[in-house]
Amino acid sequence: MSLAAAFFQDVNFINASYIVAFSLFITGLAKLTSPTTAVQGNKIAAAGMLLAVVATLLNRDLDGSEFALIAVGLIIGTIVGVPAARNVKMTAMPQMVALFNGVGGGAVALIAWAEFRDLGGNLSDNLDIGVPLIFAAIVGSISFWGSNIAFGKLQGLISGSPVKVPAGLFVNIALLATAIGAGVAILLGSDSEGLFLAILIAAAILGNLAVLPIGGADMPVVISTLNAFTGLSAAAAGIALDNYALIVAGMIVGASGTILTDQMAKAMNRSIGSVLLGGFGGEAPAAGGGGAGGETGGTVRSTSAADVAILLAYARQVVVVPGYGMAVAQAQHAVREMAKALEKKGIEVKYAIHPVAGRMPGHMNVLLAEADVPYDQLKEMDDINPEFGRTDVSLVIGANDVTNPDARLKPDSPIYGMPILNVDESRQVIVLKRSMASGFAGIENPLFHGEKTQMLFGDAKASVSEITSELAQL
Ligand code: TAP
Repeated sequence: MSLAAAFFQDVNFINASYIVAFSLFITGLAKLTSPTTAVQGNKIAAAGMLLAVVATLLNRDLDGSEFALIAVGLIIGTIVGVPAARNVKMTAMPQMVALFNGVGGGAVALIAWAEFRDLGGNLSDNLDIGVPLIFAAIVGSISFWGSNIAFGKLQGLISGSPVKVPAGLFVNIALLATAIGAGVAILLGSDSEGLFLAILIAAAILGNLAVLPIGGADMPVVISTLNAFTGLSAAAAGIALDNYALIVAGMIVGASGTILTDQMAKAMNRSIGSVLLGGFGGEAPAAGGGGAGGETGGTVRSTSAADVAILLAYARQVVVVPGYGMAVAQAQHAVREMAKALEKKGIEVKYAIHPVAGRMPGHMNVLLAEADVPYDQLKEMDDINPEFGRTDVSLVIGANDVTNPDARLKPDSPIYGMPILNVDESRQVIVLKRSMASGFAGIENPLFHGEKTQMLFGDAKASVSEITSELAQL
């Protein structure tokens, strides 16, 4: 072996490269906390991942045929992954995250299976490898199958409403006990591959049955929980394989997924346990919003862009409340133009950001940052809620569930207890949407029938542009 090859394949060199890679992951993550540095952060973390992959491939145990297999895998992954990531619409991002996260969990489960075979099924003599391997198999399989169901729900391939499984909790506990029982049998000395497959299959059914009953507004929490699961299973696989890159990257994903789950659950005022046990966000006719439901008996007042412009022109403070419909209509640039027209008339404009508005964490921040809305005009829910009482006009642009007063007032509502933007407390409310259809949670919104509310029906981008041209004529 040449001196150079010996140097680059030295385990110390590989571990040093991993440490540089982790530093890049962490620097990248830190930069993701602000929209202005997020793109750079993403690139830095991607460079870290490239370095970790290259360092792993320096492993001197790999032979030519294994390199060929890895190359085929890289080529297939690139052909599938790059166009998928480039072409995905912002509104389909949550499904994409669910799918990619699932692939990670599935890979971990397959690695665990391959390692089991590599050791000839003998995990009892290698408990330091065996225990994390069984953990990786169970959690990776749950994550893969659960993420697939989450993808199907968000993509509308299967019903977004909660699917009740008879005796669901009992069945899930039995499945978990089966997977753990088979794992313990292997750790105690059995080398049966059938038992290992039983682990993967029981965990697979559990992944399906655990996510099917969760519906409506709870999907964000489920996806970030599954994210955390994938991270933890990858870290466990890393312990079994003695691979520092997998351990650290897995723990970073596991920890950040857990923190995100906690924050989202808090934003929805739910305990994580109650989300995972189902029963919240029910009654949804279809995921993705825009179902035919949502009509109630009350009166609805519809208005015109010209009348809205007049109302806005006489306001002192206008609060824009963006939601998923703004993303669908890609109305963010039009909204920015309208806000500029209002500011020219001396009207103060603020943006009320609900933590789960849209379909992914930070969805509204990303869109509004893209339209160059000054960051200090974006107000978090807790900061803006006390202000609605002194707001002349709240302009709700494609938001629905996050403004639903039933969350505050109607104890039997499926979203009761979820903190909302208290738009109904402002002096006037204008809602821009295309119809009376419900939002993601599939429930009626009494805000639309409120005495102070007027509806401006139509695509949000067209409606906002029309308001801006009317403002110019005043
Ligand atoms: P939604 O409650 O989903 O309501 C969006 C509204 O936008 C719909 O009622 C729809 O009504 C309207 N709309 C759609 N296309 C439009 C267009 N082109 N122009 C104008 N309006 C349009 O949205 P939200 O208030 O942002 O609430 C988010 C919901 O998604 C919550 O239930 C949340 O739990 C859930 N969720 C959030 C996330 C994250 S992390 N943010 C992830 C998954 C799910 P019309 O069809 O009548 O136009």
